[in-house]
Amino acid sequence: MAFPPAFLDELTARNPIEDVVGQYVTLRRSGGNLFGLCPFHGEKTASFSVAPDKGIYYCFGCHKGGGVINFQMEIEGLSYPDAVRALAKRVGMTVPDDEQYQSRYRQQERLWALHKEAARFFHSQLYAPGGAKALEYALGRGMPKATLTTFGIGYAPNTWDSLVKAMRAKGYTDQELIDSGLVTVAKKNGNIFDRFRDRLMFPIIDVRGNVIGFGGRIMNNDDPNAAKYLNSPETIIFNKRKNLFALNLAKKSKLGYLILVEGYMDAIALHQYGFDCAVASLGTSLTEEHATLLTRYTDQVVLIYDGDEAGQRASARAIPILEKAGLQIRVLKMKDAKDPDEYLKKFGADAFKVLLEDASNRVEYQINAIRRKYDLREDNQRVEFITECAKLIATLPSSIQREIYGRRVAEEGKITYEAMEAEVKKVWKKRQNREKKAEEKRILEPARTTQPKSRTLRYDNVKSARAEESLIAQAMKEPALLDLTEALKPEEFSVPLFSRVYAQMRSRHEAHLAVTMATLEELSAEEASHLALVINSQSGPVNEQAFLDCVRTIQSQHRKANVTTEDDLMAMRKKMQERKGMKL
Ligand code: CTP
Ligand code: MN
Repeated sequence: MAFPPAFLDELTARNPIEDVVGQYVTLRRSGGNLFGLCPFHGEKTASFSVAPDKGIYYCFGCHKGGGVINFQMEIEGLSYPDAVRALAKRVGMTVPDDEQYQSRYRQQERLWALHKEAARFFHSQLYAPGGAKALEYALGRGMPKATLTTFGIGYAPNTWDSLVKAMRAKGYTDQELIDSGLVTVAKKNGNIFDRFRDRLMFPIIDVRGNVIGFGGRIMNNDDPNAAKYLNSPETIIFNKRKNLFALNLAKKSKLGYLILVEGYMDAIALHQYGFDCAVASLGTSLTEEHATLLTRYTDQVVLIYDGDEAGQRASARAIPILEKAGLQIRVLKMKDAKDPDEYLKKFGADAFKVLLEDASNRVEYQINAIRRKYDLREDNQRVEFITECAKLIATLPSSIQREIYGRRVAEEGKITYEAMEAEVKKVWKKRQNREKKAEEKRILEPARTTQPKSRTLRYDNVKSARAEESLIAQAMKEPALLDLTEALKPEEFSVPLFSRVYAQMRSRHEAHLAVTMATLEELSAEEASHLALVINSQSGPVNEQAFLDCVRTIQSQHRKANVTTEDDLMAMRKKMQERKGMKL
């Protein structure tokens, strides 16, 4: 959706990036820039920077970056229009009328309010006469009243329309009830009725404190076909891939890490026993969005999945996702209990603390996982087990660790430690060589260090791409340079992102509008980060000569690329003709 450019101009001018970031991060000035602890990944030394003159932020640790709107999106988990709206609100600006957007936002606000009312209704039902059985069930499962209040747990009565009636009485329309997912529409007559009936209700609350959905647990096992848990469907306010149960509470924990579990009841039990940093996924496997969300609050995650096979498989799937997000992981395995809820109730908080302390670390866990793949009685499988473990051990930074785990694997694989050591060294050397080569290549490369990770951002023509980077960075610093680019067309850029950015910068400049990172539109988080890195790398004075060199390089590379294709075509045509000639 597009906001009027002049509005975005004023919005970004009135929301200096250092002020907006300053609300979340304590910034200290060092030279022209400001530094602080990155809010997107855990760290102890400040690698998060804000360049007020460039209007960008960039973290040298996790490589997130962008303009003020990107920051607002990232930090609050907002969409682009919502971030714009939040910034407008911050400085008391009215967002220009955009019917579609306004109505969607109003719709969301209504659904948040409806959910809050519904949560109140369910909670009150727990103490109504019809809720006696549910209250007894909840207390019987070891949740005292204080817990029921903290989590807003409730009861959906065993009727078809209690919620429908209660919400209609509060002024919500049937359409709003349908949009909320809290009712079901009967196929035969279109009547609506409560989705949740005779269930213990767990409100799902987002990090901003909005109730966005519910999980409902069945309390008797009369019907073997009924799902144990029924969750809200996806709605315009509820996406289970992006939210975690109890994070609204866990984000305030002082424990310094987060515990990730599978079930609502597990998270609640942990909070109750003092581990107020527990969160649960919402009946889905862990997603990248979940992992990113976690990095906003911690850099350390303790993973506790159920002890059954499904739980262990889920845990194995979650580990790489969490690692990729830059989180440190410990994996805790339950003994003599199927899940944390049961464990705590059986053995108490102190026993759990012991478990936490010697939570099997990453290496042990991974060796276990590798072992499970092979049958160590078979010679050839033992070889594979050893080779795979050697690869893992070679990545360990400490020689003590390498020796300890090396000995363990050698013993299990029935080989001498010397043989194991040699194998680890071999892998390690190979890796070293590879890294050394990569490092050399990096040093030889000008301007910047790495290729963008994403395939959509890949540089096909590195020479042109470097010139494009430099041109954009210089023009951001000194938009007047754009007067010199009359002859340079966006189509001549080799990187689609830069081409788009350049086109926007030029048209803004021609319209006498500010050219800043913040006013660029339609950038994904990844694109914004990449652009921030590019702009940030630009240092020193900009100069016309250097700028014009970039223009020339881009144009000549573009011509070359086209000529090559034409040459190729000619050659192909010639070959075809030759072949035809042969056949004749
Ligand atoms: N779940 C679900 N739908 C189901 C079963 C489970 O969405 N039919 C989700 C719920 O989020 C649940 C989690 O998976 O909390 C873990 O399931 P399970 O281990 O079976 O439940 P517990 O959390 O242990 O619940 P309880 O202790 O009440 O049995
Ligand atoms: Mn359980």
